[in-house]
Amino acid sequence: MTQRPLAAIVLAAGKGKRMRSPLPKVLLEACGRPMVIHVLEALRSLQARPTVLVHGHGGALVQEALKDRELAFAHQEEQLGTGHAVQCALPALQGFVGDVVVLCGDTPLLTAEVLTALVADHRENRRALTVLSAELADPGSLGRIVRGVGGALERIVEFKDAAREPAIRAIREINTGVMVIDAALLPGALARLSSDNAQREYYLTDVPGLLLADGRRADVFRTADTGAALGVNTPGELAHAARLLRRRTLAGLMEAGVAVEDPETTLVDAGVEVGEGTVLLPFTYLATGVRIGRNCRIGPFACVGEGAVLGERAVVGPFVDARRCLLGPGAGVVGHAFLRDLALGAGASLGAGAMAPGPDAGGGRVVVGEGARIGAGAILEAPVTVGERAVLPPGAVPGREGEGPPGERTHG
Ligand code: UD1
Ligand code: MG
Repeated sequence: MTQRPLAAIVLAAGKGKRMRSPLPKVLLEACGRPMVIHVLEALRSLQARPTVLVHGHGGALVQEALKDRELAFAHQEEQLGTGHAVQCALPALQGFVGDVVVLCGDTPLLTAEVLTALVADHRENRRALTVLSAELADPGSLGRIVRGVGGALERIVEFKDAAREPAIRAIREINTGVMVIDAALLPGALARLSSDNAQREYYLTDVPGLLLADGRRADVFRTADTGAALGVNTPGELAHAARLLRRRTLAGLMEAGVAVEDPETTLVDAGVEVGEGTVLLPFTYLATGVRIGRNCRIGPFACVGEGAVLGERAVVGPFVDARRCLLGPGAGVVGHAFLRDLALGAGASLGAGAMAPGPDAGGGRVVVGEGARIGAGAILEAPVTVGERAVLPPGAVPGREGEGPPGERTHG
């Protein structure tokens, strides 16, 4: 059986007023990556084509940040509600036949597993629409799933519209904001939405009720993964989401054979690779894009940032701050070092207190040959090269004439 085609609409037009940031909300980062990228990564395995991203506030910024992705963009000039936002995406779906998954750009904990299960449930049950729900201990002001006799979906009621209905507010099953809908039914249903509600908005959440009234099959798929329901609206929620994401990342690394001595104080961003057998000591931070080989030892209190790549058995000792550094196999940095734009050859070692402040205007980098041994307190000013197996005494400033201990510059 051939699969029905799948498209996606990512809603990202909201300003995110409560974040008080000059950036559009979906570009704010959790674990070194904009929230909307987490969402797009979760979508990736579904291969939804097209994927239409609806932007509004800061649209140019959003488009610029996502320009390398295979996306169609739609603009929502005024934020008239989630139903209206989906309507803005319709021109980009012209001619598409199949199902459309609609989701929000501010739910960084959404996973490919949850989305895949949702789409599978939608298809197995041959529905016109399936809403992804979750049951929460504290459902807050999220939309409530109202089930009728027999437990089938009846409608979704927004919290603000249930001011006089305590029984509805007491429902703990909520709308995560993710839905799958037959594309053919979307334009007709959206055209019938009204803004006669507490927020004077066109609600996407009124679509299930409309389709059910038409005699279409619409129901709920409930996930046990409550992360799917975590929409970020405040700085506190962003920090909470980042903490949960980090926990998930560390759990994945440990499962893959990385030893994390203290997961509570070890921070690993999204998109970091760490090889089996590597030990991460407490208070270590690894930023997005860092790649670490097998059997390395990092920390404690090490900060390995942007563009760092470590070969197997490399060692980064305590209080090292390293960015754009390449460490060959078995290379080591003893500790208390500030390093930028440095390549340390296989087996080379850098003594305590090394400084490689990075290129000023001149550019270039510091290259240390294989097996070289540099004593404590070296200052490595780019561009400079230290030869293979060179031995530099403490306090060396290779490459700078008349400085450093005389007669001992064995570099070159
Ligand atoms: C929405 C749902 C609610 C659900 C919750 C899950 C509606 C009416 N309500 O409520 O049932 O429990 O999400 O988080 O759908 N957006 C636009 N354009 C707009 C309005 C919103 O693009 O005109 C985007 C926002 O950027 C955001 C998403 O849609 O990414 C959700 O909008 P938001 O205003 O946060 O809706 P909620 O009130 O949270
Ligand atoms: Mg929201």
